[in-house]
Amino acid sequence: MPAVGLGTVEFPTVHENTKNAVLAAIEVGYRHIDTASMYGTEKPLGDAVAEAVRRGLVQSREEVFVTTKLWGSQCHQDLVLPSLRESLQNLQMEYADLYLIHWPVCLKPGPPGFPNKKEDALPFDFEGVWRAMEECQRLGLARAIGVSNFATKHLEKILAVATIPPAVNQVELNPVWQQRTLRAYCATKGIRVAAYSPLGGQNWDGQGNAVLESPVLAEIAKARGKTVAQVSLRWIYEQGVTSIVKSYNKERLKQNLEIFDWELTEEDRQKISQISQKKIIQAESLFTPEGEFTSVDPADMDIVEE
Ligand SMILES: NC(=O)c1ccc[n+]([C@@H]2O[C@H](COP(=O)([O-])OP(=O)(O)OC[C@H]3O[C@@H](n4cnc5c(N)ncnc54)[C@H](OP(=O)(O)O)[C@@H]3O)[C@@H](O)[C@H]2O)c1
Repeated sequence: MPAVGLGTVEFPTVHENTKNAVLAAIEVGYRHIDTASMYGTEKPLGDAVAEAVRRGLVQSREEVFVTTKLWGSQCHQDLVLPSLRESLQNLQMEYADLYLIHWPVCLKPGPPGFPNKKEDALPFDFEGVWRAMEECQRLGLARAIGVSNFATKHLEKILAVATIPPAVNQVELNPVWQQRTLRAYCATKGIRVAAYSPLGGQNWDGQGNAVLESPVLAEIAKARGKTVAQVSLRWIYEQGVTSIVKSYNKERLKQNLEIFDWELTEEDRQKISQISQKKIIQAESLFTPEGEFTSVDPADMDIVEE
């Protein structure tokens, strides 16, 4: 899995914007693209990869590492395989390089959607869903399988039943939410960690961006002659974590790949380790504020772990 991947979340999704961004990304050197059934970007991603092959930017689809994800309303043992087949149809691909359970959250069956009613949350059948994920890999429809937004407690439930352990856990991770406990746990279990919102996300909550506006990172960026985004991505890379970073702008796409031929100093790393921690995305943000959880304890879905 290449160390930097392109994220494709954009709300609202505009087919041409995503297609053009993926093409631009492939052109400047990205070989790893992240999507999900919920994002509505599988089709434009697939169109872009097909076009990149036609234009000779890559020889074949095999050169691009593609991740997609299973949404909560599909987290039912009998819906996993059909959901992956639908994703592959959208992607116009024979296989996904990586298929992830998007959240440790099960929802009433239905098309992927957001936000959800609290009443629609159901107990998660970790064993049944993971068996079906393993079947996806055995059939060759997913080259690897993994999870996303799983805390240690959720990983334990999968590892207790897994024949094929999860290859990857994709979680919110950046200098402002460093995930030390989870990273240490994943290291002992051989699970690769991937970082989403590596630049602090897209400010969906209107609270600003704690990474791009961090004075500590700004000071380091100035001293190294780099941008704050590059400092964040370099720090993540030095932790042995893969970044999934979204930009639909060609200059920023390029900039976000220029992190491999320089390093942070020990003093920079010390300063970053002291940044006060703040998480953006919580499991409850998947649901509308009104209503009540009737079938699950929301604490079981909680993903905040110091
Ligand atoms: N598994 C999950 O539950 C989950 C959750 C969230 C996200 N993700 C995945 O992770 C990807 C990335 O996370 P994210 O979209 O939340 O946010 P992000 O990658 O942290 O940040 C993206 C924001 O930063 C801007 N940006 C990009 N490069 C920049 C640079 N060099 N300088 C300044 N600004 C820059 C982008 O705008 P421009 O496009 O205008 O450059 C965008 O608004 C998603 O797209 C998605 O694929 C997964």
